[in-house]
Amino acid sequence: MNLVFNSTSEWQREDRDHHLHPFTDIAQLNAKGVRVITHGEGVYIWDSEGNKIIDGMAGLWCVNLGYGRKELIEVATKQMSELAFYNTFFMTTTTPATALASLLAEVTPEGMNHVFYGCSGSESNDTVVRLVWRYWDVKGEPKRKTIIGRNNGYHGSTVIGACLGGMGGMHKQGPLPYPGFAHIDQPHWYINAGDMDPDEYGLLAARQLEDKILELGPDTVAAFIGEPIQGAGGVVVPPDSYWPEIQRICRKYGILLISDEVICGFGRTGEWFGCQSFGFEPDMMTMAKGMSSGYQPISGVMVRQHIVDAIAPTGEFYHGYTYSGHPVATAVAHANISILRDEGVIERVKKDIGPYFQAKVRELGDHPLVGNVRGRGLIAGMELMKNKKTRERFDPVGKTGLICRNHCFENNIIMRATGDAMLLSPPLVISRDEVDELFEKAKMCLDMTARDVGVI
Ligand SMILES: Cc1ncc(COP(=O)(O)O)c(C=O)c1O
Repeated sequence: MNLVFNSTSEWQREDRDHHLHPFTDIAQLNAKGVRVITHGEGVYIWDSEGNKIIDGMAGLWCVNLGYGRKELIEVATKQMSELAFYNTFFMTTTTPATALASLLAEVTPEGMNHVFYGCSGSESNDTVVRLVWRYWDVKGEPKRKTIIGRNNGYHGSTVIGACLGGMGGMHKQGPLPYPGFAHIDQPHWYINAGDMDPDEYGLLAARQLEDKILELGPDTVAAFIGEPIQGAGGVVVPPDSYWPEIQRICRKYGILLISDEVICGFGRTGEWFGCQSFGFEPDMMTMAKGMSSGYQPISGVMVRQHIVDAIAPTGEFYHGYTYSGHPVATAVAHANISILRDEGVIERVKKDIGPYFQAKVRELGDHPLVGNVRGRGLIAGMELMKNKKTRERFDPVGKTGLICRNHCFENNIIMRATGDAMLLSPPLVISRDEVDELFEKAKMCLDMTARDVGVI
């Protein structure tokens, strides 16, 4: 954009004086000064000081096609000129909104033929809750209201998103979760299971769902929601036994199964959707982020036919957003998904760059600070441990992760820290050379952190 202010310090001053940032310790930010990002190309972003930074997080797990894709920019420009906005209420659609719905029906799992649009992952999860409640009402089981999620799960930051999620810090800052939301443990084998066989642990973790259903009363439970791989919770990859067992339990009690695909969707795990990587068939899926590679704010809920069939004949569903199916956002998402399909981007994650990336991250498993490495496709987490042999964690958990994240900042690589897990989720178009660069820098930052905390 045109430069309104001239220097980094001016931007920092204006930002400090006028901008409240999400998920930010305001005092800490003001003391340090905000980093100002000015442009991006491919897997790199640049800051106002001219630093070129390799983006190991694809923005916020979303810029799947990388920065600066001309096709997406051109589609947005054209759509804005033709029709910048019209709504999809009142018996109306726009051509991009319908074209995208049709394309989504093609790329999502068999039996998912309808989408409900929103603008963010949080909104799509709010929508899913409205749909779940509506579904059970029209099915004549209005007592079924409770939705079960998982501790440390993340489903967004609206009030309902925070209720679905299991983030203790978020819950403490409000009277949350509201009644009607319950949680079971996250399937974190490395932290929770000691030496137990991972698949045995996966079954044990999944069976907490059955215990919770029985505790609450099966006729009061409406749905279970989970991310195939928990992202913000620390890239927690469940054992292979976990999701099929969750599905079996949901089917046994007739409970709807919802996959939050906001991170895993659109190729992150090497399949179009995370549920396909983990072998389960959800009744609904929420999607955002990679849906437009972050070029436009857009989200959606994919709804299986039996739910549409139940709701469709029952009158108006009182729900929707002004920008549901926004023409520019849907046009850009359509172009993005077409590129993912036509250029074989997801196939490449599965067969080439994903395995290369996973082999590289596993090499860091030998690092003295790294106790556990986990991931699929182009998403990975590394757990930093005080003593990897005895699995002793740092006290307090989170301090070492922050030290490492600060080294990343200073060395022009973006890695995210959740607790003491360092997370990576780069653009899907990353090259092998760029993966090499990412891990060279990651190792350097781990070395620096290890020295700081006295592990080497
Ligand atoms: C799995 C998951 N669900 C939902 C959300 C919320 O999406 P948004 O920030 O677009 O509201 C996120 C965001 O990171 C997410 O990771």
